[in-house]
This record gives sequence, structure tokens and C-alpha cells, in this order.
Amino acid sequence: MLKPARSAAPPRRAASARRPALPDSPVTVRPVRRADLDHVIALDARVTGIEKRAYWQSVYRRYGVPAPAQRQFLVAEADGRVLGFIIGEVRDWEFGAVPCGWVFGIDVNPEARQAGIGTRLLEALCAGFRRAGVTKVRTMLARDNNLVLSFFRSQGMMTGPFIPLEMDLDDTE
Ligand SMILES: CC(C)(COP(=O)(O)OP(=O)(O)OC[C@H]1O[C@@H](n2cnc3c(N)ncnc32)[C@H](O)[C@@H]1OP(=O)(O)O)[C@@H](O)C(=O)NCCC(=O)NCCS
Repeated sequence: MLKPARSAAPPRRAASARRPALPDSPVTVRPVRRADLDHVIALDARVTGIEKRAYWQSVYRRYGVPAPAQRQFLVAEADGRVLGFIIGEVRDWEFGAVPCGWVFGIDVNPEARQAGIGTRLLEALCAGFRRAGVTKVRTMLARDNNLVLSFFRSQGMMTGPFIPLEMDLDDTE
């Protein structure tokens, strides 16, 4: 279970003290708007090296406003700049599990990292999951992605009871 709002953690340094590129204005976490989409696409392209406009447009149609309570697409914004985003959904009975929240994607602008924005995004997502009535959150990440693993571990997430399986599909019928 996620740590409740990291209240027991030592106080964080002010964002501007850690990363001068961060705006001084307060960071707001809110549902995505259509006008954010270009920023989200650019941020994802910067982090992953691939621009996926059609994919993000379809994510916006599925998770963007007006979003059902089960689906969330949130951004962190300051001074009109999108500094990060998170996407998640409550999935019912998948893999035989009781309904739980899934985190599908998270990205924070490299200039705005290590200032608590990822934590704020995940906390907001989990608050939405709680409102939707679930008590567990899950995610999946690449085995060698130590950065994302460190982040989720810092939030209290641990290895769960499921394992991923896969195989290559050949092209013969
Ligand atoms: C993972 C990520 C979301 C973290 O965002 P962030 O805003 O920097 O996170 P926070 O500042 O809230 O950090 C929370 C904790 O995560 C851990 N953490 C964050 N960055 C870290 C780093 N570079 N090294 C080790 N631990 C780190 C720390 O424990 C940190 O707590 P601390 O600041 O008290 O030490 C961000 O680094 C990111 O977007 N990475 C790329 C994500 C990605 O690959 N997405 C594509 C697949 S979904």
C-alpha cells in the first residue's frame, strides 16, 4: 500500500532550491486539457526519443476530459508550462485480481525532476483511485529502468504477486 502522502518523510527542499530551471510559481496538478497535448507529446518524445502523436491523441480521447472517475490523465503545471503527467485507470478483475488502480505512464520534464513533482502526480492519481473505491495500486516497468524503480520504491510500492510472461509470435499462420 502506498505511504500516506509521505507525511513521515523529511521535509523536502523548496523546488527552486534544488533545480533553478523550475518556475517559482506554485505547481498545480490538474486534469489534462486539449491545449496540454502538444506539451505532453513533446515531453514524451524527449524522454523516449519517439514522437507518437496519434497514440497521444487516442490516449487523450480515452483518458482526457470529461474523464470518467475510473480513468485519469493528470498534468503538473506551473506558469502555463506542463512539467509532467501521469495516466492511470481502475481495472476490474483483470488477471483475476479484485479491482485496482493501474499506473500506465508517468513523465516529469528532466529540468523539473527531483523536486517532488512525480510524487505530487502519483499522490493525486492515488487520491482519485481511492475516490473510485479501490485500495491497491499497481504498475509495470522495464526491469532495467532503475530511475522509475527507485521512484516507485520511494513511494512505498513493492513487488506484487504477479509475474509478466511473453513470447515472440512468428509470422506463419
Ligand atoms: C521517475 C520520475 C517520474 C520521478 O519524478 P520526480 O519528479 O523527479 O520525482 P520526485 O522528485 O517526486 O522524487 C521522489 C523520489 O523518487 C526517487 N528518485 C527520484 N529521482 C531519482 C533519481 N534520479 N535517482 C534515484 N532516486 C530518485 C527518490 O527517492 C525521490 O525522493 P527524494 O527526493 O526524497 O530522494 C522522473 O524521473 C521521470 O519522469 N523519469 C522518466 C520516466 C520514464 O521513463 N517514463 C517512461 C515510462 S512510463
